[in-house]
Order: sequence, then structure tokens, then C-alpha cells
Amino acid sequence: MLRLALCTCGVGLVLLLLNFWLSQSTQRTSTQMSSNEERHFNDTLAKLLIPRWPGSRGHSLVCDFLIEELRTLGLDATRDEFSDTFPLTNVVGVLNPNAKQFLLLSCHYDSKYLETTYRYVGATDGAVSCAILLNVAKKLNSLFRDEFGRNHIGLLLVFFDTHDSVNGITDNTYPLMGSKSFVRAETVPLNRISLVISFNLIGAPDQIYMSRYERTYYLHERLADIEEQLRASGQLDPCHRLFYKLKDHDSDIDDDHFSFLAKGLPVMHVLPHTYPDVWLQESDNLQNLHWPTVRNMNTIITRFVYEYLN
Ligand SMILES: *[C@@H]1O[C@H](CO)[C@@H](O)[C@H](O)[C@H]1NC(C)=O
Repeated sequence: MLRLALCTCGVGLVLLLLNFWLSQSTQRTSTQMSSNEERHFNDTLAKLLIPRWPGSRGHSLVCDFLIEELRTLGLDATRDEFSDTFPLTNVVGVLNPNAKQFLLLSCHYDSKYLETTYRYVGATDGAVSCAILLNVAKKLNSLFRDEFGRNHIGLLLVFFDTHDSVNGITDNTYPLMGSKSFVRAETVPLNRISLVISFNLIGAPDQIYMSRYERTYYLHERLADIEEQLRASGQLDPCHRLFYKLKDHDSDIDDDHFSFLAKGLPVMHVLPHTYPDVWLQESDNLQNLHWPTVRNMNTIITRFVYEYLN
């Protein structure tokens, strides 16, 4: 009896120590947004929340800002310029450029040209996704500072141009010219890209995210598990669950990942299950963003990318 009690006590102690060690190590590699990082996120977002359709002044300001910001964050940044049918500039940032393989995170930075308003800033339509990518880079660069040189996997951030409109053409098709050009030109050799994650329409309230492709379902499950762990350890804002282990494998919409998909690359499309209510309206702005969603998405994605690169 006494022996059993001692044994249980011993196991308890080991578990307690293990728990302590785990909590210390999650703290060390915490991917939660500190207030400093949130300030960075907010400042970044403010720079992006201007009308930025291809050809506008805002478009070139945002393009310049992305290059500058990537460099400030310690990434190699390049302008990837094309002029097949229309001049366009993708912005590419790289962490650990000598890596053999890359995780590619992408979103589009242009806003759609709308005839109805000159004030469309597309907060969920590109801007929040761009700010998340930059915030992930900021956080990971500090976590990986010393490890990256030895690591065989690097991170590519690609901000696609001309997703939404060309020359004021605003029918319901997306030209997706930035991503098409990137893939056609193999700006980065496609065989060096191990996974593409494309983000869009993030930041509206009451939205959930499901898996879009069977091939990457196991990674989607990982996102859902990460969300659960972060919530359990108090690292998320109070908010409904974002990632569900649900398969929505037949109804994906045209987006920047399509060109990669056509080339047989594994793809995740982080896009909510419905369009935001503010979609393509002037009200898709800062005031109508749902901050718990934005913050939690940022924290979950940062954690996922951190794990993937490890
Ligand atoms: C970031 O912006 C949001 C929305 O405007 C605000 O609620 C939050 O307090 C800001 N965070 C910081 C650190 O300034």
C-alpha cells in the first residue's frame, strides 16, 4: 500500500516536473502576440489600409512599403516584375535563402478597383493577410536567429499583385496575374517549394475554416490541434473556434494557389467558409474587423509555421 502510494507520488512528481518543463518551453517559444508585436501589426496594417488597385498611387506606396518592411525585418526582399499583358510587381521575401526547401506563404496585396467607391481598402480582402505574413516573419526571425543557418528549410513570403482587377476591369473573374506569372516564370523553382499556404478574406466575425484539400488535410488537423493547445494554455483571445477538422474538398474558389495546384504542389487555402458580409464594400475596413479572430489567426499561424520550420 505504502509502496503504491510512494509510486503514485513519484509519478505525480515526474508529471509535475514534465508539465513545468513543457510550460517553460512553450513560454520560451511562445508565438503569442506581445503588445509590442501587436503594435507592429497595427502599424503594418495601417500602411496597407489604403486603396491600392494596380495603377494607383496607393498601389506603388504599398509595394514600396512591403519591400522596406521585409528588409527591416531582416529578410531578403525582391521585386518580381512582369509585363506580359499588364505590368505587375510581386514582392518576394526570403528567410534562410540557402535552404534546399521552402515553405511558401502567400496573399495578394492589391485591392480591387471598384467603380462605386474610391475608398475601398479591402481590410479582409488582402490587407489582414499581408499584415499576418509580416508579423509571422518578425516573430520567427527572432526565434530562429541562430538556428536558421543550420536549417534545411526556409520561408518564402510572396505578396501577389493583380489578384483582383486589371485596368479597371471589374467583372467577377479574378485575373490572378501575379501568381500565374510567378508560377510560369518559376521565380522560385517549384521543386524547392514543399508546401504553399495561401491566405485570403481573413478578419471578419463569425467565420470558421475548413480543410480544402485531402492531400493537406493532416496539416489542417494540425492547425486545429494547435488552436486547441493554445486555447488550453491561455494564449488565445476569447473567441469562437476558427479551425474545425472538417473537410470541404469540393467547393474551393479561384485564388492565388490555383497555379501551384495545377503544377501538382501541396496546397492549403486558408479562407473562411463564407465570404465576409463586407466583401467588396466600402465597409471592408478597420472598424469592421473582428480583433479576436485577427489576433488568434496570427498566433495560430505563427505557431504552425514555427513547428513546420522545425
Ligand atoms: C491594435 O488595434 C486594435 C483595433 O484598432 C486595438 O483594439 C488594439 O488595442 C491595438 N493594439 C495596440 C497594441 O495598439
